[in-house]
Amino acid sequence: MIYEKIKEVKTLMEEEKKNIHTILELNNSKVKFLGKKGLITELNSEIKNVPSGEKREFGQQVNALREEFSKFYEEKKSLFEEEILNKKLESETIDISLPATRVLIGAPNILEKLIEEVEELFISMGYDVEDGPEIEEDKFNFEMLNIPKGHPARDAQDTFYLEGEEILLRSQTSPVQVRTMLKNKGEHPIFMICPGKTYRRDDDDATHSHQFMQIEGLVIDKDISLSDLKGTIDVVVKKLFGEDIETRFRPSYYQFTEPSVEVDISCFNCKKKGCSICKHTGWITVAGAGIVHPNVLKMGGYNPKVWSGFAFGFGAERLAMLKYDINDCRVFYNTDLREAKVFDRKEAESHD
Ligand code: DAH
Repeated sequence: MIYEKIKEVKTLMEEEKKNIHTILELNNSKVKFLGKKGLITELNSEIKNVPSGEKREFGQQVNALREEFSKFYEEKKSLFEEEILNKKLESETIDISLPATRVLIGAPNILEKLIEEVEELFISMGYDVEDGPEIEEDKFNFEMLNIPKGHPARDAQDTFYLEGEEILLRSQTSPVQVRTMLKNKGEHPIFMICPGKTYRRDDDDATHSHQFMQIEGLVIDKDISLSDLKGTIDVVVKKLFGEDIETRFRPSYYQFTEPSVEVDISCFNCKKKGCSICKHTGWITVAGAGIVHPNVLKMGGYNPKVWSGFAFGFGAERLAMLKYDINDCRVFYNTDLREAKVFDRKEAESHD
């Protein structure tokens, strides 16, 4: 009877051995046979029921069973471990013939690059680069630029007002003209540019954005005339778009300049023959400009009888779009590295 039990456990063990396929199953099986309440362990405790003459024999048989299972366990375990190791090695093999993972490298924002180029050019001509706040007072953004409250010229700028009617997001960089004049107290000549962000309540599309950048310019000195403005703009556009580019002024209207002009450059693409970039006119508008209005000089503390000046405002995105052949201004502000890469290439090509 007692030996029957050993036989039973042995048969169970033989069955079990055939059905073990994983290390988990193996460990479960170890618990089942050799654990605290395991089948073999329990056989051991049966020894007290075995007649004393047979205890030795019984003990040997149980031990043999234990050894058999232990041996099986150890062998199977190292087999599984080897298998796991091989699988791991296999999955971690480095195939040196595979193409390497490409690491995306950032590139400078092309709009920023263009602004830097313009800054360098003006600095080389003796200009200062000025700065002004984006949250601006109505008085600097409009009033001191000769645009009083209620003037229809304000409507054109669709301004974001922040607090009542006095604090706004600047709709143009022109307020920096006023700030620079006040800083110089009507005493010193001014040669400055100011690149900066501007805001208008525009719907965003390929050529409009609620936030865009302008490059403002202001020169105040003695005997400044429209030809100084033309000469200056000419140098800039030649540098940006090529030596063969011509400049032309068309009459225009701004409150803060008199006379005011619209600055056109000859189309760098078709050389004035007419194409889609210049809308078949041969010319492209790149800036507004003019001779500083005497009222603006006066409000800025400069005596118009002594001083005269010119001012201009470029749309920075427009310049970059033209220079790098980009047809959607929104791409300057998204963070897609692939686009930055394309810009980088275009920029490199523009130096060829
Ligand atoms: N501030 C003008 C605008 O946003 C651009 C401009 C025109 C600036 C003529 C100037 C200027 O300094 O003289 O439309």
